Amino acid sequence: MESIAVCGAGYVGLVTAACFARMGHHVCAYDSDATKIRALAGGELPFYEPGLDELVRRQVDAGRLRFSASPADALAGRDVVFITVGTPVDPTGDADLTYVRQAVRDIARYGGSGMLVVGKSTVPVETADVVARLLAREAPEKRFRVASNPEFLREGSAIDDFFHPDRIVVGSDDEFAKAALCDLYAPLNAPTLAVGTRAAETIKYAANAFLALKVSYANELANLCAAIGADVDVVLQGIAADRRIGAAYLQPGLGFGGSCLPKDLHALAHVARKHGVEPTLLEGALAVNARQPAAIVRRIEALLGELDGAPMAVLGLAFKPRTDDVRESPAIALAAALHARGARVSVQDPRAARTARRLLPEGVTTAATPYAACSGARCAVIATEWRQYQQLDWHRIRAAMQDDALIFDARNALDPGAVRAAGLRYAGVGRAMRQAVPA
Ligand code: UGA
Repeated sequence: MESIAVCGAGYVGLVTAACFARMGHHVCAYDSDATKIRALAGGELPFYEPGLDELVRRQVDAGRLRFSASPADALAGRDVVFITVGTPVDPTGDADLTYVRQAVRDIARYGGSGMLVVGKSTVPVETADVVARLLAREAPEKRFRVASNPEFLREGSAIDDFFHPDRIVVGSDDEFAKAALCDLYAPLNAPTLAVGTRAAETIKYAANAFLALKVSYANELANLCAAIGADVDVVLQGIAADRRIGAAYLQPGLGFGGSCLPKDLHALAHVARKHGVEPTLLEGALAVNARQPAAIVRRIEALLGELDGAPMAVLGLAFKPRTDDVRESPAIALAAALHARGARVSVQDPRAARTARRLLPEGVTTAATPYAACSGARCAVIATEWRQYQQLDWHRIRAAMQDDALIFDARNALDPGAVRAAGLRYAGVGRAMRQAVPA
């Protein structure tokens, strides 16, 4: 068993630390934010991820996982360190490596010679080279081994993704580091790709960008279907049946959000431009995504008429279900756009109401339940496809709303038949309408 340090107790860091501890390793997760470390030591997680609180508690109780605010304590005597600090991007898509550099300085100072230094944060291509150079400069007397090991965890299913990955990418230009990292992951029995560091760093961006391209394609297709009167569900079924295409990430809706897809798409486009390559497809995907909430608002207006003064419910604020993360959430953009049109917006989310509050415009109210949000509303928009919303009592929703109220399913997550059977009007994204839509 290895002795592992994880530098950065954020989302990726905590999942990585807890999962390696479950594999039997001794792990210390380090973060410079002492308040966060105190909360973690008290069993409090800074975000919601299904099953993670339980996993962390068990590993702490078993003595395999602990938290520290001291880099000396966390790094001394470890075999491996994973760097999982944040890498924010500026509006041009350029990644800010301040936290990575700080982590590397700590490692150079407190880590021992022979330590395997693994980058897991999503970083621009060539960052592993920067890390290696910085380590050599800061601690010329020590010999570190550097690798890049991008993660493909999805929020909401991160633990399962860790233990059952489609593939593991191990990137290093040092054969010993590659072998050591492959050994660490061997118990997972997953297909493992051992490549150079630049390829590993590019794979991470390229994978997220491709997922984003698929989502934007589905949304463009849905908008086209709405315009020509075809049903996007049927069209997508028709193309997904082709095994070369598949159905994954072709669910149309409000667009992609979160801390990864939008950021990584911007970053890859930036890298491309920097190297003189025109990122035409990437920019197209970003443009489609940026327009999608406004396109949905226009469709709602076409169905309801003037929105000024209209009471409306927005159900869902998180960027996707099973998380309280609202970063780049298109649901927030939608609520804000409706509010800007003069609608009286009431929002609800099973997990993200608290995290969303500071991002919502003043005047948008928060309801405790979906029924309360819908009370007196002319329209309810499903903005995040929480299972709770798929299981709503539509008769009760109808009784709460105005006569002839509209349910706009901005995630195509509902059964239109069940909604209509309760006497409500239903519309989805590119889904065929029963009644004619005014132009
Ligand atoms: C994404 C990738 O899926 C992970 O593999 C990767 O590790 C992670 O980024 C990361 O870089 O850390 P995540 O941000 O958790 O994971 O979100 P996804 O589940 O990929 O969803 C992204 C967005 O696309 C969500 O807003 C979701 O609602 C939207 N989406 C997804 C669609 O609109 N349609 C789809 O068919 C699929």
